[in-house]
Amino acid sequence: MQEQSVTGHTLEQLASEAFSALEAAADSAALESWHSVYLGRKGHITLMTRRVGELPKAERPAFGQRANELKRELEAAYERQAQLLKAAEMEKALAEGAIDVTLPGRRVERGRLHPSTQILRRIYQIWADMGFQIYRSRDVETDEYNFQLLNFPRHHPARDMQDTFYTSGEDVLLRTHTSPGQIHAMREYYPQPIRVILPGMCYRHEQISARYEIQFHQVEGLAVGYNIRFTDLKGTLTDFAQRMFGAGRKTRFRASYFPFTEPSAEMDVECILCNGDGCRLCRFSGWLEILGCGMVHPIVLQNGGYDPSVYSGYAFGMGPERITMLRHGIEDIRYFWGNDLRFLEQF
Ligand code: PHE
Repeated sequence: MQEQSVTGHTLEQLASEAFSALEAAADSAALESWHSVYLGRKGHITLMTRRVGELPKAERPAFGQRANELKRELEAAYERQAQLLKAAEMEKALAEGAIDVTLPGRRVERGRLHPSTQILRRIYQIWADMGFQIYRSRDVETDEYNFQLLNFPRHHPARDMQDTFYTSGEDVLLRTHTSPGQIHAMREYYPQPIRVILPGMCYRHEQISARYEIQFHQVEGLAVGYNIRFTDLKGTLTDFAQRMFGAGRKTRFRASYFPFTEPSAEMDVECILCNGDGCRLCRFSGWLEILGCGMVHPIVLQNGGYDPSVYSGYAFGMGPERITMLRHGIEDIRYFWGNDLRFLEQF
């Protein structure tokens, strides 16, 4: 077949030139520049095929076909050469020890949940299993909700139990406990019966120490309905303690005082370390204090909109960080917000 040419430089000549130049490309940089010289947008092959129009009409189809064929062959040769070079470069790197395939792999660091989140989720699960929904209440409260509606009048001495962070003036504050959520829940649910837990962060203006932090979680519980009695409170909380700390775990209730419950109590569980024998964790008493609780005070029911001659209820409040501390023998509450990985990675 007669060779077609456009410029005097035949297509076949150009192709054989390209093949030998390709063989000479010794590294990937040379390979890339070869590609742009011959096959690039302004490469020799591309430019030559564009000039097909300069040929006599009859010769154009055969020329075009041959040019495309050569282009495909050159592309394929280029791919082969690229593979070869890559393999050679890898072998060279291996030989030089740049990649030591015998080294152990790098461990992928996995994230984890904060210990407070872990205990909160466990607590939610237990209460969910017992039919309690989660009610979310606000962190920023008014004096009215945090104290007055809970039967702490202004200047009541029980306010001293909870040193308060005020924001602006006397009336806006960071909640010192989750109990104001009781009022929000009652006002929203009235007149239906209520079974909720109210988890969240609380804030107190404390001197930070191993035992006191200025922020900590609480999980409040509230049940309101007909004929709810103290025995319901005791039974439910004992069931919770056994789900949380193990079946058969004993509990006891001690009389206590909170303005918003009457009667009020604190619940202890048998020490989880010594099973009641007495040890350092329980200060040799055999018991650990876990939560405060009581029957919702009639004034509080009324403030929530529920008639105390028709409805009754119980409430409780526990500290998840404290529970985690007891379970793991953690002696300093400051670890929780200290962001020290040596602490966090243990959970
Ligand atoms: N709010 C109380 C506290 O912060 C705990 C509590 C909640 C007690 C509900 C009784 C009922 O100490």
